[in-house]
Amino acid sequence: MSTKKFLLQESDIPTAWYNIAADMKNKPRPILNPGTKEPLKPEDLYPLFAEELAKQELNQTDPWIEIPEEVRDLYKVWRPTPLVRAYGLEKALDTPAHIYFKNESVSPVGSHKLNSALPQAYYCKKQGVTNITTETGAGQWGAALSYAAKAFGLELAVYMVKISYHQKPYRRSIMQTFGAQVIASPSMSTKSGRKVLTENPTYQGSLGTAISEAIELAMGTPNCKYTLGSVLSHVMLHQTVIGLEAEKQMEMAGEYPEVIIGCFGGGSNFSGISFPFLRHKINEGKDIRVIAAEPASCPKLTRGEFQYDFGDEAGYTPLLPMYTLGHSFAPAHIHAGGLRYHGAGSIVSQLRQDKLIEAVDVQQLETFDAATLFAQSEGIIPAPESAHAIAVAIQEAKKAKEEGKQRTILFNLSGHGLIDMAAYDQYFAGDLSNYDLSDEELQKNLSTLEHII
Ligand SMILES: Cc1ncc(COP(=O)(O)O)c(C=O)c1O
Repeated sequence: MSTKKFLLQESDIPTAWYNIAADMKNKPRPILNPGTKEPLKPEDLYPLFAEELAKQELNQTDPWIEIPEEVRDLYKVWRPTPLVRAYGLEKALDTPAHIYFKNESVSPVGSHKLNSALPQAYYCKKQGVTNITTETGAGQWGAALSYAAKAFGLELAVYMVKISYHQKPYRRSIMQTFGAQVIASPSMSTKSGRKVLTENPTYQGSLGTAISEAIELAMGTPNCKYTLGSVLSHVMLHQTVIGLEAEKQMEMAGEYPEVIIGCFGGGSNFSGISFPFLRHKINEGKDIRVIAAEPASCPKLTRGEFQYDFGDEAGYTPLLPMYTLGHSFAPAHIHAGGLRYHGAGSIVSQLRQDKLIEAVDVQQLETFDAATLFAQSEGIIPAPESAHAIAVAIQEAKKAKEEGKQRTILFNLSGHGLIDMAAYDQYFAGDLSNYDLSDEELQKNLSTLEHII
């Protein structure tokens, strides 16, 4: 076996994030005020977000945004992350494809989410904010933000989707270890939570509802800001450290990825691995395929509609241009909790409109088959979310075999699954199922959308 791991030095950690919006020929549509339908200015976002993050959110002109030294110093705790050639998986599949993965699971909290948690906490602290709120699905974002909040001395309240609160109790313990307050959502502590619980007392929660609760708490608390772990453009921006490092590492490997794959919740790890490579497609016409891997039970990119919609259940956010299933969509209880979100970020949605990226949806059982094969051949147990990217990488490697072609595939391993073993147990016991979303159910939610586009 030749080189397995491609490692960089601390000095190779990027000094700037890549802002793809500056290079896009068709810019993402503006975020709108739901009342007036007028485009928002950064100042309009200041009540909710730290000012620097609001500016980054709407920046469509600067391709590079400097990473503050304090953030870069904390990135050094685990970055640069390894790029790994998956020889074991290649052998198990008997494929001519070369499969590489960027291993973001090595972060202290086990996922890519820390790449954005640290700058978000940093900019809040720099502005003198004392309290922050957020939501979390599977608990990965909440765990990352808890560590970041502690690193910058901020108080944090996390609304955790109820099903994950019970399925993944150790992520709650991780957040509490870092000093965060964790509340199962829907809760009785907010108006939006009470409304949902009154209508459906056994509701197990969704990211959309948890976001509403976190926004409500932030708006009602002095000196408090809301933070979000995906969907928004500034989150995508921070995650580009993944692809910028991978670009250098692929050079070390002497290859260029023809297929790039990321699993897809709101789009942050997908954007992180792919945007730096997409800039070569946009600016130089490089021939690459970029594929978002989403769950068949929550298929916004493959079956949703490109329309303006709210980012949360209660409709507290501005209107975002997104591929959406409708903000009141209640996804099935799959174990990839971080992928149970109704919409896609506005940049990714525009890229999909412009056919610069593709999307594939995968059934739950196929993702666990892929996860198990990957664990057995590479020695790393992946998060159920990341298993979606692995499943699509395997599909592509099998296609390469059928076609008898060498193909270089790169996917992002967004997190490890060591705290998701209850899901694996259910899979081994044969208790996991696939979920089909009927056209009828899909249309029911989509028909509630106001047609602005
Ligand atoms: C390990 C992991 N991967 C992927 C995701 C999906 O989020 P995103 O699409 O923002 O990367 C999550 C979200 O919680 C996650 O925890």
